[in-house]
Amino acid sequence: MKNETLEENKVSLQQFAEEVRKGLSAHPKYLPSRYFYDAVGDALFQQIMNMPEYYLTRSEFHVLSGQKEAIARAWAHSSFDLIELGAGDGYKTKVLLRHFLDKQMDFRYLPIDISANVLQILEQSLQEELPELRMLTIEDEYFQALSHLSNYSERPKLILFMGSNIGNFTPEEATDFMGQLSASMRQGDGLLIGFDLKKSPHQILAAYNDAGGITRNFNLNLLKRINRELGGDFALDQFEHFPIYDPELGAAKSYLVSKQEQEVYIEALDEAFAFERAESIYTEISQKFSLQDIKTMAERHGFEVKGQFFDEQRWFVDSLWIKK
Ligand SMILES: C[S@@+](CC[C@H](N)C(=O)[O-])C[C@H]1O[C@@H](n2cnc3c(N)ncnc32)[C@H](O)[C@@H]1O
Repeated sequence: MKNETLEENKVSLQQFAEEVRKGLSAHPKYLPSRYFYDAVGDALFQQIMNMPEYYLTRSEFHVLSGQKEAIARAWAHSSFDLIELGAGDGYKTKVLLRHFLDKQMDFRYLPIDISANVLQILEQSLQEELPELRMLTIEDEYFQALSHLSNYSERPKLILFMGSNIGNFTPEEATDFMGQLSASMRQGDGLLIGFDLKKSPHQILAAYNDAGGITRNFNLNLLKRINRELGGDFALDQFEHFPIYDPELGAAKSYLVSKQEQEVYIEALDEAFAFERAESIYTEISQKFSLQDIKTMAERHGFEVKGQFFDEQRWFVDSLWIKK
């Protein structure tokens, strides 16, 4: 087994500080959601995936367990590079990896994630569970990693972008992202991309507002991380977690709302940020999709939809696209 770790263009503390400055100086305020994922955030996200309200992980797990052979057949290559964007702990991906190995497909797994911590967890668990797997972990940001993708090998690429991570972009950002992704792919390369489908707004909202308060802690961990890494003095009990879902736009959004007028000082920036009472910080979007949205996105970016793989309730779809 050959494991290497490629650490290119890691997101630095300075970049984190600059993005925090930009977001907290904006009107309305925002913080980029990718900073959720430090070691504490990774552990909280693993708890979120197990919550009864968070149907997404279970649904996609069922898609992959039930349709792994159909996916392998639709992809049709037996020698390729399997690249995963925002791999996380690989809980669902392992279903595919195991199946591809059982079928004796010749592939190398390249998981990309911005969190060094989660990559370490992933690598360790794969070494134990699938010792025959060849892999190369890449600690990097999607966009940065994408620009290096073409250098990896001449073999066809199957890119995994699961968990409806595409929904963590606004529709405009998603268009930009898909444009870059498509440009980094060659004709015949594949993209297996997970989409959380539009469904009852009550069900969707509950997934971001669990009764156990784990999503709340996940959201507030962003402020904790700023305190810890950038010397901030956010009083966590002075902000509340507030998720919304707009069924017309299909957008679930999370906010942190200041309970009172207050000032927060961040040492790394040597700057104080003023909050009015009830002022919000927008922290995350989780966009939901219709089947038509998915078809339109594929066509717009030069892909043919080769297969749509659903769970039984049709709450989630993994869509296989081939670059034309
Ligand atoms: C919502 S989790 C999903 C993980 C996994 N794909 C799944 O479906 O369970 C998102 C993962 O993407 C990573 N991530 C988020 N933004 C990223 C970015 N801009 N570049 C690279 N990785 C990112 C996070 O560290 C996290 O592990």
